[in-house]
Parts: sequence; structure tokens; C-alpha cells
Amino acid sequence: MTILTAEFPQSRLRRNRQDAWCRDLIAETTLSVKDLILPLFIREEDAERDIPQMPGIYRHSLTELLTICEKAQQLGIGAVALFPFNNPGLKCEEGLEALNPDNIIGRAVRLLKERMPELGVMADVALDTYTTHGHDGVIRDGKVDNDDSVKALTEMALILARNGVDVVAPSDMMDGRVGVIRKALDKEGFQHVRILAYSAKYISSFYFPYRNAVGSISCLGKADKETYQLDPANPKEAMREAAQDVLEGADMIMVKPALPYLDIIYRYSEAFHLPIVAFQVTGEYSSLKAAEQNGWIDFNRAMIETLIGMKRAGASAILCYAAIEVAEVLKKQ
Ligand code: PBG
Repeated sequence: MTILTAEFPQSRLRRNRQDAWCRDLIAETTLSVKDLILPLFIREEDAERDIPQMPGIYRHSLTELLTICEKAQQLGIGAVALFPFNNPGLKCEEGLEALNPDNIIGRAVRLLKERMPELGVMADVALDTYTTHGHDGVIRDGKVDNDDSVKALTEMALILARNGVDVVAPSDMMDGRVGVIRKALDKEGFQHVRILAYSAKYISSFYFPYRNAVGSISCLGKADKETYQLDPANPKEAMREAAQDVLEGADMIMVKPALPYLDIIYRYSEAFHLPIVAFQVTGEYSSLKAAEQNGWIDFNRAMIETLIGMKRAGASAILCYAAIEVAEVLKKQ
């Protein structure tokens, strides 16, 4: 591509950058509070609240959930995404608690839809927080079994829909799950329930704080998820994943983590004409927080810069643990 521009001194690029009003006029990307989705960890009343790896982020009881969601809504945040912390006693090999309509997420979804019907509610579809082995699916003969996992995940998605969730987000990376979930939802009359497919979910060291927050780290032990999550080296495989999810009926596709994968967000936005959601994961949040705590970085500025980067790459929306802090900054601007 040739970029047509006059030569210096006819062209002086700094001319447009002189004053704040003009810089605002020429801004090519904007970050709005309406682009943000707030991820929240939910716990039973008696479970530990603090997450040592995520200063400023807590596991919320159902009462606290209402308080933080009200605050988020007042600031203009339109949607939340829920992740459970399950007490170890609730976990089993098959992750059956995921199929309990009254589990912590089921109760949280019902509470939010009853008390704050205007707030968008998303929930993860994966078994990792419910299984004793910490994998996203079920194990058969020592391996994460694709088709049996899809069966369990489809049941999980249906239960979430019956509880009133607006968006189910399969984060499990099993093959074919989007199509099977779509059909099952439609068959039960849940045509309105959206599917946000985690299409490009890379194996990542940046999930470490999350696995502590939801309590799956000790279950996984030394194991990781390389038989189903994407290799960070592979962009083409990410295109195939998304193409498949799109053909199976995904309403939105996700790239996760976000900052190390801006090229994937960009490729998706060029190739697919449906909304791209970026997930700024726990490790991305915690890295910036740690730098702030050491006095090495201005957290708010760095955070907003990374979010603008995701928007510039082509993301329509961003899951951001700091959404409340960011909303407060944006409000002042
Ligand atoms: C797994 C899942 C993961 C996250 C959300 N759901 C990662 C994993 O353990 O593989 C990560 C979220 C984050 O780090 O913010 N179903």
C-alpha cells in the first residue's frame, strides 16, 4: 500500500497535534465504558475473599455481587462475566456440580437477572472449576475426551440458559461444541441466548492468577491444557478455530489472552464480520498491578493504553478485571 502524503515542509504531521481539541478530533480509536465487560469471581459466603495474586480483585459472595454490579452499572458498564470459586468438597472427576442448577453460578445468574434485569450476564461454559483434575472437560482413558465433554458442556449451557443467562461462553476449546450447544439451545426455545465462542484460546502463563482465583491450580498440578488450547506459535490454526465457530453459529468470537495476541485480534477483525471480544486475562491485570505497586508504572495510563491497543487491533469489546477503575478514569476525562 502506498501512503499518499505531501513531503516536508508542506506536510507537517505535528500541525494536527498542537492542541487538545484537535488531538481529540483526529483520534482514530476510542475507548468507551460501553466497550467493557467486567469479569467477576463468585464464592459461597464462607469461602476466602482475597486473591493474593490479584491485588484489588476479590471473590464476591452473592450479597457483594449485587453491590459491585450496581456500582458497575452506575458507571455505565453494561455486562458482567461470571466465574465460580467452588469449595474443594464440591468437586469430582466428572464435574457434576456444573450441572447443578442451584450451584453458585446458577444462583448468581438468577439473582442478577431478577434484581438487575438490564445488566448483561455472561457465564463460562467449561468444567475446570468443577473437576478434581482441573481440566475443562471429562477424562476417559486418561485423556480429555472431546465428545463426552461436549455432552456435559451442552447440558451446562442449557442449565445456564434456564437460569436466565444472556450469553454462554464456551471456554473449553472442545471441537464442535458451538454447533451442538446452538442446536440444544434452539430446541429448548433459547434462540435469544447468545454464544460467545472462545475461538482463539491460547495456552498461557497469564492464566496463573485465574487458576488461583478459581482454585483449579492445585487440581491441575503440573498438567496444562496443550491437548485442547492453542499453541502460541499458531495464527493459522486460530483462523481455522474461528471459521469453525462462525459456521457453527457463534454470535461473537473471543481472543484470549489479549495483549500478546493483538495480531490475532487484527486478523480476526479483517477476516470475520462479527464482533471480536478480547479477554485481558488475569496475568495481564496482575502484571500491571505489580508494576504499579513497585512504583514502576502508572497503572491507569498503562491499562488504558493496552485497552486502546486492543480496540485499535479490532476488538469490539473487552473483558477487563479493572473495568471499574477504568470507568472511573474515563468518567473524569
Ligand atoms: C478455563 C478458563 C481460563 C480462564 C477462564 N476460563 C483459563 C484456563 O484455566 O485455562 C482464564 C481467565 C483469566 O486468566 O483471566 N475454562
